Amino acid sequence: MRSKIVAGNWKMNKNLEETEALLATLSAKLPDTQAEVMVAPAYVNLSAAVRCLEASKIEVIAQNMHFAESGAYTGEISADMLLNIDVNTVIIGHSERRAYFAETDGILAKKVQTALDHEIRVMFCFGEELEDRKANNHFNVVENQLRNALFSLEAASWSRIILAYEPVWAIGTGETASPEQAQEMHEFIRKTIAEAYDQTIANNVSILYGGSVKPGNAPEIFGKPDVDGGLIGGASLVADDFIAIIKAI
Ligand code: 13P
Repeated sequence: MRSKIVAGNWKMNKNLEETEALLATLSAKLPDTQAEVMVAPAYVNLSAAVRCLEASKIEVIAQNMHFAESGAYTGEISADMLLNIDVNTVIIGHSERRAYFAETDGILAKKVQTALDHEIRVMFCFGEELEDRKANNHFNVVENQLRNALFSLEAASWSRIILAYEPVWAIGTGETASPEQAQEMHEFIRKTIAEAYDQTIANNVSILYGGSVKPGNAPEIFGKPDVDGGLIGGASLVADDFIAIIKAI
């Protein structure tokens, strides 16, 4: 059976002190839940975050990594470096990386492969832009993003893949996909995976929704059968909001 997951993507927010303070509050207030709970602080605070959460169920994950093993890639971080500090899951393909750092499907496919070669779990993000949805092209865009980065993987690799559908128009805008829109897309994603691989793989992959998830809308979105949790931006920076969202799963 697939896991329920609530993950907080902190993006470029929270210095060391703020990271430690937020993690201490989250650990203290974490409700009893079957869901996996994850947080993705900034790179420089990952080690400290791992230490803070040693006795906690909350997993520390990374926001990005490079596809090369090592070498002359100034400013970048490798798979080995993550494993070495006990970070075993990485977000790949966030729309902000695609838009501001020119990460193409080809680059993302290489990153995914490198992570999997190191037995790192991948939380793969994808989603259409507003123009795609207006042009009723959103299913095609999503299918292509999945196909280009993931559909060359061996079937066995899918046990280490988590999907996060994040429509770009809903990220940080306060505008959310309706629960029906999220369900419609998640169902489509599962069907597309079943066609490319098989129904078991499709049934076992967790598909998270991301884009302006808040305590107020989380219960309805998480209530949909193909929505297995959320990837939360802004609301994950506020302890009480993130806790309320975890309670909604
Ligand atoms: P918001 O929740 O701030 O819209 O961000 C979503 C997101 O990009 C998570 O990765």
